[in-house]
Amino acid sequence: MKDDPKLAKRDGIRSCYTSWSQSYFDTYLGDAADYPPVHVALIDKLLKQAEARAILDVGCGPASMMRMLHNVERDLFGFDLTPAMVDEAKIVGRETGIPEENFWVGDATDPNSYTSGPVIPGNGYDALICSGVLPHIDDEETTPLFQNLRNTVKPGGLVIVEARNQLFSLFSLNRYSRDFFLNDLIRADELKASAEKSGDDPSKVLTAVEQLFKNEQPPLRTGDNNALGYDEITSNTHNPLLLKPFFEGLGFREVFLDFYHFHPLPPMFEPEFPDLFRQLSLQMEHSRDWRGYFMASAFLISGIRE
Ligand SMILES: C[S@@+](CC[C@H](N)C(=O)[O-])C[C@H]1O[C@@H](n2cnc3c(N)ncnc32)[C@H](O)[C@@H]1O
Repeated sequence: MKDDPKLAKRDGIRSCYTSWSQSYFDTYLGDAADYPPVHVALIDKLLKQAEARAILDVGCGPASMMRMLHNVERDLFGFDLTPAMVDEAKIVGRETGIPEENFWVGDATDPNSYTSGPVIPGNGYDALICSGVLPHIDDEETTPLFQNLRNTVKPGGLVIVEARNQLFSLFSLNRYSRDFFLNDLIRADELKASAEKSGDDPSKVLTAVEQLFKNEQPPLRTGDNNALGYDEITSNTHNPLLLKPFFEGLGFREVFLDFYHFHPLPPMFEPEFPDLFRQLSLQMEHSRDWRGYFMASAFLISGIRE
């Protein structure tokens, strides 16, 4: 591990994803995945609407989405922080006809990583996809990341970013809800400071609020064999109500939110009737239904570079 906290965090992310490089696709996107990759169809539709041909997948993993989005009309490129993921992507590229040099190692927050691949003829990429990366980006790195995406796509080009939905915590009633209530809504530190001034003690009330939720849920995802697990690395959620104006402010127009992975009940009830739960979830997959703000665990934000 490195002394620089940013480098140490990157090491953690690489450690987590190195351990998943060969299993990631089957676990999350393949036929045996717990939930079908409904977001890939949403991304495909957005790419088709934009008539995107040259597409860069930022944080491409083991070419997981690229193997599903690939067709003869598209030229796909991708880079990823984790070398083992890039190695896997190259193997997939060989099988799907994507040249090896279209994959490279890079960091989404580093502008140089975007120009380390082959030169794209014309004005640059028609579209950029960035899925599964934003959770691993610290708040202060979000602006540089989005600026890199904006500066790399051609003017009039499309950028699609995937995020974990922070507002889902208002439905999940678990430790994510506790954190959102105490840190983002109530802002317990500010409340405590005000109470101190007025001589009140809010600690009992705050403890009572905390205990309203099933704080042991969901189980923490830890790693094994010296690899860090998903909940041991930076794995942030994002508030769509804040992300949309932020994205627009960085020079994107026609910004849309598309919610996915809907839940008919809080996820802690899924084990009670898993098949029905999955069936009802799939029936709810309407990406622009307002219930997505609360009942979908993830969303895509997309926009056109001005
Ligand atoms: C959840 S996986 C998603 C893979 C693929 N994009 C997909 O959606 O199937 C996240 C990927 O992002 C990569 N990653 C994390 N932080 C990154 C960064 N700062 N720059 C580039 N890639 C990053 C990880 O190495 C991992 O392969």
